[in-house]
Amino acid sequence: MIEELKRIQKEILGKLQDLGNSSKVEEIRIEYLGRKGELTNILKNLSKLPLNQRRKVGRLANDIKGNLTKAIENRLSEIKKESVEEKIDITLPGILPGIGNKHPITKTIDKICNIFIALGFNAVEGPEAETEFYNFEALNIPLEHPSRDAFDTFYLDTDTLLRSHTSPVQIRVMEKEKPPLAVIVPGKVYRPDASDATHSFMFHQVEGLVIDKDITFSDLKGTLSIFAKRFFGEDIKVRFRPHFFPFTEPSADLDISCIICGGKGCRVCSNTGWLEVLGSGMVDPKVFKAVNYDYNKYSGFAFGMGVERLAMLKYGINDIRLFFENDLRFLKQFKI
Ligand code: PHE
Repeated sequence: MIEELKRIQKEILGKLQDLGNSSKVEEIRIEYLGRKGELTNILKNLSKLPLNQRRKVGRLANDIKGNLTKAIENRLSEIKKESVEEKIDITLPGILPGIGNKHPITKTIDKICNIFIALGFNAVEGPEAETEFYNFEALNIPLEHPSRDAFDTFYLDTDTLLRSHTSPVQIRVMEKEKPPLAVIVPGKVYRPDASDATHSFMFHQVEGLVIDKDITFSDLKGTLSIFAKRFFGEDIKVRFRPHFFPFTEPSADLDISCIICGGKGCRVCSNTGWLEVLGSGMVDPKVFKAVNYDYNKYSGFAFGMGVERLAMLKYGINDIRLFFENDLRFLKQFKI
């Protein structure tokens, strides 16, 4: 019987080494150690042995059972390890995690601000919930002005509103600081317009303000011409067209030669050859009065541009709603 036990042990250990599959190992376990297994049988029949042999054989059989159980477990965990190693091919190229990119509006804001920062401007921000004083009164927009109508401004309560332009930040900056100053102010603005291809109830503006002694209209023209060329390309032409804003005097719209047709006239420029890109003007003395600046001592210019409009012109986008729909097919095109 002792011989028999040793044979079984040798047999199992030999077979185990050749098995590369965990279910085959399981079969071996059942064959020898299962309820009807060979080794189990021997253990069952121990009682038939004479007493003097029973102990010796019993101990050996139990030792062998322990050894084999361990050997089977070891083989199983080896097989598991081998199969994981097979699945990981470390020579394959890695899977790149998806890296996001900035929204085209954020990129356009960065681009605009960086041009002005290079010219010596500081970027600042202001609140989106404003008072009538900052959004209108201090900017010389009288109570009867149509933009103060509830249909043209989102009122939060009788005195607070969602700013309809970034110009109120001009007032906040001048209240806090003394000239000379040159600031650029990016931010969201709100107007209750029905949305269509060119209107959105929320959009972005970048405001600019420069105040010092002896600032003239030629500073305005020079600064904004440099900006337009750096933003749209050195080849474009610019022109300043008289306009009106309550907070600047004189005021002017800046046009650039149409970037689609080069000035010949097309659908995008309504056959005029020109595209309007921003509003500007010399700061009105009434605005200086509202912030207690001495308008005999200082002068300055201000400007405001719509970020979506500039991005649409620069990238040839024909619908403002594309910016706000979160469609990755659109957003992924602005990697650079
Ligand atoms: N705030 C004006 C607008 O929203 C733009 C502007 C800003 C014009 C500064 C002149 C000076 O249309």
